[in-house]
Amino acid sequence: QAQSERESLLIALGFARDFFVKNLQTEEGKSIGLSYFKERGFGPAIIEKFDLGYALNGWDHLLNAAKKAGFTEDILLKAGLILQKEGDPDRKYDRFRNRVTFTIHNISGKPIGFGARILTKDKNQPKYINSPETAVYHKSDVLYGMYQAKKAIRDQDNCYLVEGYTDVISLHLSGIENVVASSGTSLTDGQIKLIKRFTNQVTVLYDGDSAGIKASLRGIDLLLEGGLNVKAVVFPEGEDPDSYSRKVGSKAFQEYLNSQSQDFIGFKIGLYQDEIKRDPIRKAEVIREVVQSIGKIPDPIVRSVYAKEASGLLDIEEEIVHAELNKGLLKSQ
Ligand code: GTP
Ligand code: MN
Ligand code: MN
Ligand code: MN
Ligand code: MN
Repeated sequence: QAQSERESLLIALGFARDFFVKNLQTEEGKSIGLSYFKERGFGPAIIEKFDLGYALNGWDHLLNAAKKAGFTEDILLKAGLILQKEGDPDRKYDRFRNRVTFTIHNISGKPIGFGARILTKDKNQPKYINSPETAVYHKSDVLYGMYQAKKAIRDQDNCYLVEGYTDVISLHLSGIENVVASSGTSLTDGQIKLIKRFTNQVTVLYDGDSAGIKASLRGIDLLLEGGLNVKAVVFPEGEDPDSYSRKVGSKAFQEYLNSQSQDFIGFKIGLYQDEIKRDPIRKAEVIREVVQSIGKIPDPIVRSVYAKEASGLLDIEEEIVHAELNKGLLKSQ
């Protein structure tokens, strides 16, 4: 019976997952991949839960194994598992080599792609190589970890949003399962819709560096526009949820999240607190920025609740907040 192309890709990706997982138990995989994960505190149970694996060092380990198992080069190419050599398209080679692999699952747990991390500090190569967009991997509709998180997101009625693969995994090790990663790219409408199938509350946990803070600000506005309630936690400079949870331990980490989580207004004002005190012009800019975020909220009642909070925290008349809000709303019509 004829398979659809999508089905063939899923089968090939499942084969690749199994291959990478098994590689971890070879001599090379144990001494390089497994020891890398161990160093990061990832043991057998979490390796299994997330289908972590290892791509062997060499040009065509997966290619050869997959061909032997009956997969065509065409399918492997379309699944994003192999590449064609530039100038010599007859020559194919593995996309993922000499890296640990993170399986990206669809919502029902089938592998649809991979992220693969370099094992050295070589600055000439990208830290992560990811699967390309394919017929089964529409990046804008996928959040890493959603398959493992969806039940907990529903139960907790909150979704933690982190930047990276390893942040998701470390949170699970800290006993927090309602977590997904945006994988270092800007959030999309499709990803926001996906979260909304399970909860209306998102807590943003981005890296404590300037890139992470910028990405939080962008993400928060997109989430607000999507009608979600948004909270955020700021991590100490240079820490991300993975590094910080390992530094302080599960219990202190959970307490940190609970005590430091604030709504988006507190988060934004907190970022600029010192500047505001010193500089009234800067304060005016911050007011405009906070109001601009409030203006993204579709529900007028929720909008007005936040307008009130902002006027209190920024110590300005509520009418001014409302006036500024109305200006923005008129413009966007
Ligand atoms: P570790 O260094 O392993 O702890 O990874 P991290 O997740 O902390 O990395 P970082 O904060 O630098 O980036 C966050 C996420 O962005 C990663 O998990 C990846 O999904 C993605 N990312 C990071 N570096 C690259 C890269 O070189 N190429 C691509 N395509 N994505 C990357
Ligand atoms: Mn697409
Ligand atoms: Mn970062
Ligand atoms: Mn990070
Ligand atoms: Mn990290």
